[in-house]
Amino acid sequence: MGVKTPWQLLSAGVVLVLFTTSVQCCPSVCQCTTRNFQTSVDCSRKNLFTIPATIPDNTTELVLSHNYVQDLTLVFQNQNNNSKFRWLDNLRSLKLSNNSISSITESVFTKPLMLRELDLSNNNIEEMNDKSFEGLQNLIHLNLSGNNILDITNNTFQPLKSLNDLDLSNTGITTENLWIPLTVNSLHLTGNNWNSFNTSIICNLQDIKFLDLSRNNLMNIELPPLPSLQILNISQNNIHNLSHNAFSALPSLHTLILDRNPFSKITVPIFQQLSHLQYLSLSHLDNLVYLNRDAFRGLHSLTTLQMSDNHQLEYIHVTLFADLVNAKMINISYNNITALHPVTFSSMNNVTTDIQGQP
Ligand SMILES: *[C@@H]1O[C@H](CO)[C@@H](O)[C@H](O)[C@H]1NC(C)=O
Ligand SMILES: *[C@@H]1O[C@H](CO)[C@@H](O)[C@H](O)[C@H]1NC(C)=O
Ligand SMILES: *[C@@H]1O[C@H](CO)[C@@H](O)[C@H](O)[C@H]1NC(C)=O
Ligand SMILES: *[C@@H]1O[C@H](CO)[C@@H](O)[C@H](O)[C@H]1NC(C)=O
Ligand SMILES: *[C@@H]1O[C@H](CO)[C@@H](O)[C@H](O)[C@H]1NC(C)=O
Ligand SMILES: *[C@@H]1O[C@H](CO)[C@@H](O)[C@H](O)[C@H]1NC(C)=O
Ligand SMILES: *[C@@H]1O[C@H](CO)[C@@H](O)[C@H](O)[C@H]1NC(C)=O
Ligand SMILES: *[C@@H]1O[C@H](CO)[C@@H](O)[C@H](O)[C@H]1NC(C)=O
Ligand SMILES: *[C@@H]1O[C@H](CO)[C@@H](O)[C@H](O)[C@H]1NC(C)=O
Ligand SMILES: *[C@@H]1O[C@H](CO)[C@@H](O)[C@H](O)[C@H]1NC(C)=O
Ligand SMILES: *[C@@H]1O[C@H](CO)[C@@H](O)[C@H](O)[C@H]1NC(C)=O
Repeated sequence: MGVKTPWQLLSAGVVLVLFTTSVQCCPSVCQCTTRNFQTSVDCSRKNLFTIPATIPDNTTELVLSHNYVQDLTLVFQNQNNNSKFRWLDNLRSLKLSNNSISSITESVFTKPLMLRELDLSNNNIEEMNDKSFEGLQNLIHLNLSGNNILDITNNTFQPLKSLNDLDLSNTGITTENLWIPLTVNSLHLTGNNWNSFNTSIICNLQDIKFLDLSRNNLMNIELPPLPSLQILNISQNNIHNLSHNAFSALPSLHTLILDRNPFSKITVPIFQQLSHLQYLSLSHLDNLVYLNRDAFRGLHSLTTLQMSDNHQLEYIHVTLFADLVNAKMINISYNNITALHPVTFSSMNNVTTDIQGQP
């Protein structure tokens, strides 16, 4: 018989199996899955110190979380233009959380030009410099939470021209040593033990939409004008006094979480400028005793008010909710309210209330 063309061989089926195996060559400790030309390689929790050889070409996602990687240069060795690392050309997501990386001071990321997501959370990273993120001009998501970061300068993050989503929670970084790129629109800064917050680090973030400052020690808050901010979480801080200007320059805000703070009163209409606010949470406020009748003035768009578990709150003024004409849910359960006037909810057409758990 004559020589078969590749198509004839392919149609024989057997060869098709060999063909796909040689392309895939999944490292034996990892799991590889391919869907819609996207190959995901999961090598998490395998006691690895470096990347297994033979990562498939076209790998788009690589998960190396929960291993013992210490040195990123061992992972890539990308300087030598080795064809072995061709798979990096398509890498979009690299997850290295819970390893033992302690510094990034060399340009290790210059090859994965397509990288969009980099998770370095829960390592021991202290040191970074202007080479750390070189080459990551397409990176969108960067997670550095759970490291001991000492210092982030404008030069450290300078290469990250596309960064949108930055997680610097539980890093112990101080606001004096922090610089946030202007492209960031989602910023996670929880658990940093700050008792004050120098707002100059965020005041130029004209595109910021999401800001999480929860689980710090902030004693007060007064945010600068942030025209795009939609979601603000400042729960679990140490805010005793709410400044009447705290939220006055946040015209796009739709979600505000103030739970678990020690303030005892709201004496003035502090939410008055928040004409787009839809969701307000004021729960677990252990010291809350007083809400002025105008406290919620201006909240015309509010649909949900969570105001539960404020064990000292005994009194709700009959006109407190008068401006909440669009409210769909008001939860005032587990407060210490003994009497509610029947017209308290009369400004709303169609509201569900939860008033259980009063004495
Ligand atoms: C890799 O992906 C590209 C496009 O995404 C495709 O053209 C090529 O055939 C793929 N190569 C392999 C070996 O799967
Ligand atoms: C790296 O390899 C590519 C082809 O794979 C080649 O085009 C390029 O010039 C090489 N770069 C260096 C620095 O050798
Ligand atoms: C990941 O690291 C964090 C911080 O060190 C630790 O609290 C957590 O338990 C680790 N996760 C696992 C599954 O080991
Ligand atoms: C960052 O990583 C931590 C720990 O792995 C995780 O809990 C957190 O959700 C991540 N942040 C984002 C924005 O995905
Ligand atoms: C970083 O800031 C310094 C001083 O604040 C400035 O001189 C330098 O040009 C800035 N670098 C970049 C890349 O913006
Ligand atoms: C806040 O940071 C800016 C710029 O780093 C600095 O000029 C200013 O003095 C700081 N303000 C406070 C109250 O620390
Ligand atoms: C606000 O932050 C707290 C504490 O970090 C968290 O438990 C809660 O889920 C957050 N709420 C929202 C709506 O993101
Ligand atoms: C908080 O406000 C009260 C009056 O409402 C004032 O006496 C107190 O000094 C303020 N505390 C701080 C830390 O600003
Ligand atoms: C609830 O209110 C009653 C008086 O109506 C008061 O005696 C009690 O101490 C209050 N409970 C709390 C937890 O403040
Ligand atoms: C109101 O809040 C309480 C306490 O957080 C919760 O258990 C309950 O499910 C909420 N009610 C509704 C209707 O969401
Ligand atoms: C009132 O709300 C309920 C549930 O949110 C909905 O099913 C019902 O259609 C609403 N009625 C009116 C008149 O809007």
